[in-house]
Amino acid sequence: MTQILPLGSQSDDAIEALLDAAFGTDRRGRTAYLIRKEMKWLPELSYAALDDGGDLIGTLQSWPVALHSQDGTVRPLVMVGPVAVRPDQQKGGFGRAMMDAVVQDARRLACPPLMMIGDPEYYGRFWGFSAEGTAKWQAPGTVEARRLLALVVDGGTLPEVGMLGPRITQMV
Ligand SMILES: CC(C)(COP(=O)(O)OP(=O)(O)OC[C@H]1O[C@@H](n2cnc3c(N)ncnc32)[C@H](O)[C@@H]1OP(=O)(O)O)[C@@H](O)C(=O)NCCC(=O)NCCS
Repeated sequence: MTQILPLGSQSDDAIEALLDAAFGTDRRGRTAYLIRKEMKWLPELSYAALDDGGDLIGTLQSWPVALHSQDGTVRPLVMVGPVAVRPDQQKGGFGRAMMDAVVQDARRLACPPLMMIGDPEYYGRFWGFSAEGTAKWQAPGTVEARRLLALVVDGGTLPEVGMLGPRITQMV
């Protein structure tokens, strides 16, 4: 049975090894890493998936980021990802279970909008993430517009324009 636990229950080494297996060891140059540069993942919105034997087979991390406008406005966002499932366990429902957890908890906590760089065919299909409201968002690196996704979880609205980057003042 899938067990979803807070990610803080796992060692940093185990998390990093799983991310290397899912994304490769050259993953740190990706735009997603620049957006959340020097931030720490949010323990209340980050998860581990364990198999029957208690082995780590999935991780999901969330980060405090923001959209920074030219007029100095800073709109908080929560960046979701990487979402990673060990290659030999993919398509077994573990990604969905971790994503269900983060969307449910973010709604419960009335968090700022969730955002991610990911496949709309997956994150749109199951949770309603969409690139519709992010067309005027900029990133500190290359990002395919259709893969820059957002989801409002607090009944509010998405910020329209700005540059994605780390959020210095932390809040969920
Ligand atoms: C993407 C990932 C997190 C999905 O988790 P998973 O546990 O393998 O998948 P799930 O069991 O939750 O979901 C399975 C369903 O989603 C679909 N799906 C999985 N990944 C998909 C993708 N990238 N695009 C579209 N559909 C996808 C499957 O086809 C399957 O559909 P079906 O039920 O109709 O057969 C996982 O495959 C993974 O770690 N991939 C490598 C790393 C990665 O690309 N991460 C995402 C970027 S942050």
